[in-house]
Amino acid sequence: MKRLFPLLLLTIIMLACGGGEETTSEAPGETPAVAAAQDIDVKKIWKIRCIACHGLYGDMGTNGAANLQESTKDLAYRVNIITNGSENGVMTAFKDILSPEEIEAMAKYTMTFNENL
Ligand code: HEC
Repeated sequence: MKRLFPLLLLTIIMLACGGGEETTSEAPGETPAVAAAQDIDVKKIWKIRCIACHGLYGDMGTNGAANLQESTKDLAYRVNIITNGSENGVMTAFKDILSPEEIEAMAKYTMTFNENL
């Protein structure tokens, strides 16, 4: 599975360079169970915006990205870091990219990685 990461990364970079907000990268047959209630496709956002550093399972750690499978940070901390970026500037601020609802959904989504162990 790990072997797929370079390929995934490339796809993401290509998507990112496309610049369009409307992408058609949604994997077929995938159920966004976590965000179903609010109609936000967290897995899609994850793959477009977050996977390059955090990896598909949250534990890749590119550029020193926090291991989300082991993170014990609370929801407020996560919402803040996604909104404003990390203090060391490595993690991008997403406040101009994602809506507050999307940011909260993503923060909650990052709390599910430790359940997949
Ligand atoms: C450019 C690389 C990069 C991208 C892209 C990125 N992150 Fe991060 N992320 C980091 C780094 C580095 C840290 C650790 C920052 C620190 O502790 O100072 C981090 C920390 C976090 C944390 C805090 C976890 C903890 O225990 O400290 C959360 C939650 C998080 N990221 C979620 C996301 C989400 C959601 C996205 C996509 C919307 C995302 N990240 C995109 C690099 C990235």
